[in-house]
Amino acid sequence: MLDFTYYNPVRLVYGPGSIEKLGRLVPDEGPVMLVSGGGSIERNGVADALRTQLQGREVVPFPGVEPNPQLDTLLRAVRLAREAGVRFLLAAGGGSVIDGTKFIAAAAAFSGDDPWQLVTGREKVRAALPIGVVLTLPGTASEMNDGAVISRKNPTDKQPFKSERLFPRFAILDPTFTLSLPWRYTANGIGDAFVHVLEQTCTRDVFSPLQHRLAEGILSTLVECGRALRERPDDLDLRGELMWCSTLALNRLIGCGVVQDWSTHLIGHALTAEAGLDHARSLTAVLPWLLRERFEAKRGRLATLGRRVFGVTAADEETAARAAIEAMEAFFTELELPVRLDPSVVTPAVLVRVLGQMSAYSKGLGEDGDITPDVVERILRASLG
Ligand code: NZQ
Ligand code: ZN
Repeated sequence: MLDFTYYNPVRLVYGPGSIEKLGRLVPDEGPVMLVSGGGSIERNGVADALRTQLQGREVVPFPGVEPNPQLDTLLRAVRLAREAGVRFLLAAGGGSVIDGTKFIAAAAAFSGDDPWQLVTGREKVRAALPIGVVLTLPGTASEMNDGAVISRKNPTDKQPFKSERLFPRFAILDPTFTLSLPWRYTANGIGDAFVHVLEQTCTRDVFSPLQHRLAEGILSTLVECGRALRERPDDLDLRGELMWCSTLALNRLIGCGVVQDWSTHLIGHALTAEAGLDHARSLTAVLPWLLRERFEAKRGRLATLGRRVFGVTAADEETAARAAIEAMEAFFTELELPVRLDPSVVTPAVLVRVLGQMSAYSKGLGEDGDITPDVVERILRASLG
């Protein structure tokens, strides 16, 4: 196991009805900005529950954070938060709303001229407004981590950043709030969580059997409960289980002491920025082809994952590892997630722009730094078929 420091101060409140604890969790001073997305919380009753809980408090609503939150939108929220003297930010939504709220928190407390530099890392997050989360779409684990991914136009970009100051103070995980999710977003969440685990466990192997088994436990549960939920989308137990799986997949716990990859994510971010793919769909379309490209480096872990997660029985390592990739593809397909890029979306012109974005990683992605832009091109062309 590699050396590590683990820190995670998020108070996680899980359970049907846990929204009733919100009133006590939001600090009792100053206006609260309620950050939300394109209106799902108004349609599924979450907004009503929030209003009940925040009765008597000064609430400054900021709806309209879009999927893949955009810098311009968030800067409007920053101006409003400053004008209204907001003291606390409450995010109600999925990864985009939570990430956007993290950016607002950092940018509102930033005195420099260009808050985008907080995302590029040229400026450090030295202060941030406190944040709370009411999760409505499990998948990203933003509710229990210190990261956010922000997009911008002119020039087109989508970049992750992180800071200890961006951990939410609390996150409410009420699985009843996920019953209104259409299957597409439910599946996206499962696919995203699955790839988060792979990026942390399907890497160059180091002796860390507990970490690997924690990761395999999450993967097995995602597969078992994901399949069952396809049949029974109203099953609250399954929804709760998947919520907890996706939080654990990226609350930094399983990444302790192991080698991490994250190349699929960085390629996926460029695809989303240039071609508008849903985050999870960019990942599931790239991952199998990236695993085939990096087969020699990853075959040991792949074979074990095949046996422990998908019940592959082949004794021979190469056969088991190849069967693992096929089993992952079959699982994604069952969930209606793509395992190939669509050439009518990722056209030759789009591919050129995506590869242009990847030129920023000329030193190479992946745990061994050998996924250079020309290797990315091979992976994307293989996925396009
Ligand atoms: O905007 P609203 O109206 O809320 O609708 C959303 C949105 O259209 C809808 N939705 C959310 N909860 C719902 C619901 N619809 C019905 N019922 C509900 N209960 O779902 C749509 C997608 O939401 P979004 O938040 O964009 O999805 P997701 O949670 O997948 O977040 C994706 C973003 O998170 C980033 C991605 O890059 C992307 O920008 N990520 C953040 C990470 C992190 N902070 O650690 C890690 C991830 O790898 C990822 O990169
Ligand atoms: Zn992700």
